Amino acid sequence: MNSIQNIQTPKETISLKKPILEIKDLKKSFGNNHVLNGFNLQLFEGENLVIMGKSGSGKSVMIKCLVGLMQPDSGSISVMGKDINTLNRNDLDELRTEIGFLFQGSALYDSMTVRENLEFPLRRHKHKFGDLTDTTELVIEALESVGLVDAIDLMPVELSGGMQRRVALARTLILKPKIILYDEPTSGLDPITAKEIIELMRRVQRQYKTSSLIITHDVDCARVVSERMILLVDGINYAEGIFEALRASKDEKIKAFFK
Ligand SMILES: Nc1ncnc2c1ncn2[C@@H]1O[C@H](COP(=O)(O)OP(=O)(O)O)[C@@H](O)[C@H]1O
Ligand SMILES: [Mg+2]
Repeated sequence: MNSIQNIQTPKETISLKKPILEIKDLKKSFGNNHVLNGFNLQLFEGENLVIMGKSGSGKSVMIKCLVGLMQPDSGSISVMGKDINTLNRNDLDELRTEIGFLFQGSALYDSMTVRENLEFPLRRHKHKFGDLTDTTELVIEALESVGLVDAIDLMPVELSGGMQRRVALARTLILKPKIILYDEPTSGLDPITAKEIIELMRRVQRQYKTSSLIITHDVDCARVVSERMILLVDGINYAEGIFEALRASKDEKIKAFFK
């Protein structure tokens, strides 16, 4: 069954917007393991798009192709209208500052304070921000948006798992990205902390007007966060639609996601 089940696409609303990120016919195999078999995706400005797929279905492979950590076999990826395959190193570097990537876990630098962790991307992308002598204002602004200004001088090890993830989000926000990619943002967190992170993701979207691609297998997270969902099955975008419509589907492969 290789056709997309277009359960319910709110065409009237999305056709007015342009995709800020587009993946066309993405294919990636490892030997005989055909992971992505022609995956398509359009992320529209300002939306929260959730990708659900079971473990090993190729979610991380897809996101790695997106951020250039992995080379697809074929297909195209364009970000803000630019095909990333045609960009030179400098242009690619510049484009990277528009995309925030929140890794699974939080991947903070253990030997740096919270402040130093947040300053790190500013230093790395000097061309976007100029030679900053005083970064305090930007650091505080980013920490304020995740409610953690008081943690500015703490070390990561002094923070709870939820706090670490908020700091990681602040570190992503400090570059003011237009797009945020979340890889399993609630995995490994207890339900209450997971709920806080989900709330925070929604707040960030409103405050920073970002477009977000959220990879998750957390049904609760998908229900609360998603404006639209794509189900990744057999390497393709098997079904697309809003949460309620997908949940009501009679298709066995779709039903399996909501059990
Ligand atoms: N670097 C790699 N080399 C070989 N196989 C890989 C590599 N990365 C991922 N795979 C395979 O691709 C499939 C999808 O993996 P992944 O994208 O990590 O799944 P998930 O949806 O859980 O994130 C798995 O079968 C995995 O073994
Ligand atoms: Mg993964």
